[in-house]
Amino acid sequence: MKSFYFPFLTVLLFFSCSTKKEITIVSSGEKPTLMRKPYLQMVRPTTVTVTWKTNRVSNTATVLFREVNASTKKVVKGFLTEHEGNKFNEVVIENLKPATTYNYAIYSNGYELASGEKYTFTTAPDNKNTAFTFYALGDIGAKEKWSFAKEPATRIIELAKKPDFGLGLGDIVYPKGESKNYDKHLFKPFQEVFKNTPFYPVVGNHDWLSDPEKNFEKEWALPNNEHYYSFAYSNALFIGLDSSNGGFFNKEAQEAWLKKTLIENKNKYVWFVVYLHHNGKSCTYKNDYEHVKSLYKIFENHKVDIVLNGHAHTYERLKPYDGEGNIDNSITNQTNYSDLKNRFISITIGAGGKINKKWKADPNNSENCTDGSIVAHFEHVPSFGLFSIDGKTLSFQGINSYTGKTFDRFTIKK
Ligand SMILES: [Fe+2]
Repeated sequence: MKSFYFPFLTVLLFFSCSTKKEITIVSSGEKPTLMRKPYLQMVRPTTVTVTWKTNRVSNTATVLFREVNASTKKVVKGFLTEHEGNKFNEVVIENLKPATTYNYAIYSNGYELASGEKYTFTTAPDNKNTAFTFYALGDIGAKEKWSFAKEPATRIIELAKKPDFGLGLGDIVYPKGESKNYDKHLFKPFQEVFKNTPFYPVVGNHDWLSDPEKNFEKEWALPNNEHYYSFAYSNALFIGLDSSNGGFFNKEAQEAWLKKTLIENKNKYVWFVVYLHHNGKSCTYKNDYEHVKSLYKIFENHKVDIVLNGHAHTYERLKPYDGEGNIDNSITNQTNYSDLKNRFISITIGAGGKINKKWKADPNNSENCTDGSIVAHFEHVPSFGLFSIDGKTLSFQGINSYTGKTFDRFTIKK
């Protein structure tokens, strides 16, 4: 559709009480259409990235923000990049206070496109003592009739305490990870979560069906090369991997990077969480993936605590196991773990937006989902995981995405 240029100009004035300086946001030209509500990325102790998408007329991107309950307002200009005929408006805000909640409003061409007390971000802590929570789920966005992604999003919004961030365990957008489907399939159901809570996804095999450089990586701002990366939050280190499809992306380089990252951070964090799309061992309809199992020794040697994956559209928490993939049968209490030392807990959380309705756990499978041989808890329901970490205690809940009820729970105390 042809767009029209309206030659008028509006000046919005904001007054900063402490400095008495006025902030001026000048609007000019056509008011752009908001195509995607703002979402938070790369939330660090002193910086935050706010991104939103407009139709192509947008020429300037600006965020106005203030600390909640404070009167001083500040304004930051960002940059625009064009992709798929739309403009990505991206604003990086710096010099923020750690562990502080701010209210924000977004402007394109100087026109306010979203604002209000519900638009907030909270910076990460700059210490290792702060308790925090995060959610995780994989296999999320598809056409509405094939994805219930709106359900976990609604349950996450309803949580008594807003999670500090979310992890996306691959197959973020179906059928092929195409940029053109991100709005309908993912951002629409998750927009109320993403406007307050940053999301750290990794690519899955479906995302790899479209070139990630031209799709996945255009949609997200992530650390490192965006295929594999790490970020710290309080006393935990999070490592996202690209398990591609049947073999790791840049296998040798990625594996070397994984080892280096774990060695460099060995004594710096209490908790190490690895997340990727494919499962290693599984009791489900998915095979065991050898390329993931080949990392078990690294997880064991470097004291990884938790490994999260999607891919199988179900929920499966395995018993603690070792670098060979053997269950440690000396551990009998599957609800309250003491320090697991070099054992780790692997959880499939792959019913984020899709479930395999025809499949039932096979009691004759050698890696059985229901006889307790390898699985601590199995449940074939739409679900997501919720973690809280408080010092040396990690608590986990598996939550039903329709009812909001917790169906699985465990703690690890170091
Ligand atoms: Fe998958």
